[in-house]
Parts: sequence; C-alpha cells; structure tokens
Amino acid sequence: DSYDTAGHAHFLVKEIHEQPAAVERTLSGRLDERFATAHLGGLNMDARELRDIRRVKIIGCGSAYYAGQMGAQLIEELARIPADSEPASEFRYRNPVIEADTLYVAVSQSGETYDTLAAVQEVKRKGGRVLGVVNTVGSAIARACDGGIYLHAGPEISVASTKAFTSTVVAFALLALHFGRINDLSPADGRRIVEGLKALPGQIREILEQEKEIAELAAEYANCQGMMFIGRVRGYPVAREGAQKLKEISYVHAEAYPASELKHGPLALISPELPTVALVPDDELLDKNLTTLGEIRARAGRVLAIAHRAPDPKLANHSVLVPRNEPELDPLLLNIPLQLLAYHAAVALERDVDKPRNLAKSVTVE
Ligand code: G6P
Repeated sequence: DSYDTAGHAHFLVKEIHEQPAAVERTLSGRLDERFATAHLGGLNMDARELRDIRRVKIIGCGSAYYAGQMGAQLIEELARIPADSEPASEFRYRNPVIEADTLYVAVSQSGETYDTLAAVQEVKRKGGRVLGVVNTVGSAIARACDGGIYLHAGPEISVASTKAFTSTVVAFALLALHFGRINDLSPADGRRIVEGLKALPGQIREILEQEKEIAELAAEYANCQGMMFIGRVRGYPVAREGAQKLKEISYVHAEAYPASELKHGPLALISPELPTVALVPDDELLDKNLTTLGEIRARAGRVLAIAHRAPDPKLANHSVLVPRNEPELDPLLLNIPLQLLAYHAAVALERDVDKPRNLAKSVTVE
C-alpha cells in the first residue's frame, strides 16, 4: 500500500481492489483451527471476564456505524449476546446508561473522529469498559480504549470507506467467533466460520472480476431520480452502507429500507425513475425477498438484484451474482458489488470520486 494510485484511476478503486489483501492481514495470525476459534491478543480481557458480558453496544459514525450494525448481528448470531450499533454522536448526547456487564466497542478507521472519541471518553468517565476496532495504530481512539482489535487494512486515502469497512466487519466476525466459542457456539459451527473467513479473500477477488459488467450497470442506473436499497435482516445493513456509498460519491439520492418496511410507506416512491437495488441472498428469507421484488415490479419499478442465484427475470431486470459463504458472513460479500456500483456511478457522472464535495475523510471537530 503506497500513497499513490498505483495505476488506478482513483484511490477509491485501488482500495476496493486491495480488499482481498486487507482481509488477509486482518485475519493474519488470528485463526485457531484446532480450537475453531479466534485469537485476539489485544482485547486485554480473559475468557472469565468475557463470560460476564451480557450486552454489546457498538458506537461509530458513518460507515463505521453501519459496519457496527453488521458486527452486532454477528455477535448476536454467533455468541447469542444482545448487541446493537448506534451513531456515536447520538449516544454521547443522550446521557447513556452505562452498565457494568455491557461491553462497549468503538469503531473508527482513522481513530480520530471527534464524536466517537467523545463517546469513548463518556463511557470511560462513567466506569465502563471500551474496546476499539480501529485501523490507525496509536490513534486517539485506540489510545483511549481499554483494548481492541487493529484492522491492519493499510492506509485508506479515499474519503469513502471501502477496505476499512470490510476489514471492520471481518474483525467483528473474529470477535463474535471468539466470544461465541467462550459461550455456546459449537466446535462444528466455529469450524464453519473459520473456513468461511479463510475463503473470503478469494471470493472477494471473484466478485472484483465482474467489475466491467457492474460498471455498465452503474452507468445505466446512474441516470435516475434516486435509488432505493433494500434488504432483510442480514441484508439491511448492507443496503444502508450501499446507499451511503452511492450518496457520498455520486450525489445520487439513495434511501435504504428493510425490505419488509417498503409497504409501510416508501412503496409510494417506486416508479421507473427510482430503481431498487435489492440484496437477495439465498437464505431462509429468500421467498419473502422475492415477494417484495414482485411488488416493486408490479409498480413498474426497476430492480437490480445482488444475489447468489439470479431471480426470475420477471422479478429482477438485472442481477449481479456473488459466491456463497456461510450465511452469517454473506453480508461481507454482498457489499462488494455495491462499492463498485457507487464508484462507477460516480465516474459516469464525472464526480470528484476521492474527494466528494462537503465531506472530509475524518471529522475531528464537533
Ligand atoms: C467521515 C467520513 C465517513 C466515515 C466517518 C467515520 O464522516 O466521511 O466516510 O465513515 O467519518 O470515520 P472513522 O475514521 O471514524 O471511521
């Protein structure tokens, strides 16, 4: 990783392509095949301390907050501990109740986001324990935390986060695996996750090979009034991050909704001018998701599906297929085409991809 675009048109697309290597570094030395768990030396918490944790509260801003949502789902699924993610700024201003048996986790690529730092300081002032999931070694947030996980994703220059986002979710998968194996996750399920994590870099590479096709779709879909992103449960944070990425760099208005909420309001927006990007993994919610696609198509809405299997052409105008991993890890892969979609939409609209208007890479002021 060097501080030039190394032959790529922008830092953003260079960083998108660095993801297989970034994930390898996040995983490096941390997987334990024998005990089907993860080693996280920086947590500064032993198994006995972790066993006492009853809740996990994740805080971060922007993409870090959405990565935290994916992380919360991983922790709930694998460790069966209630977990959720909240914008750090909201958290710090609402006089949060700090509980002794809650583990607080601050997420930040830069480690310098002021709102996140202030939230960490608030938790610590009230006697809570905070871990950091941070990319930048020795940053203010890393120093303020009691321990944590460094991403080792390498420097991220482009304002929109891609490889740090992916590495953050991988770090949460490691935390959830470690936590799960201390609680009730079986060795067989632990092994399933270890193997799934090992497969990620190669599978991300497979998705990146479809860049040309995704670029063509992006150019076609970028000419629209706005875009809707939908997903259910594991797909919902993917939809939120996908909409965020598109907004940040292409300035196309985008909204993310749980697919199930569409009928409670936003269905009124659906028209040929407002296409929908739908996360449609082949999981236990597939039939529900396909029903939603039918409702959109019946209102003449265009659908671009990100899926494991292409839906019937009556339900989706276009599909981008991603390889299957374990269901818990699928969101990581479903997100990759959305990065390329946002990037190529921004290029087609001739935006300033690496330095979008009105945004800063890290917001170090209140
Ligand atoms: C800024 C950037 C976002 C980023 C957020 C959090 O608002 O524009 O892309 O997600 O800060 O940054 P951090 O460094 O704390 O992850």
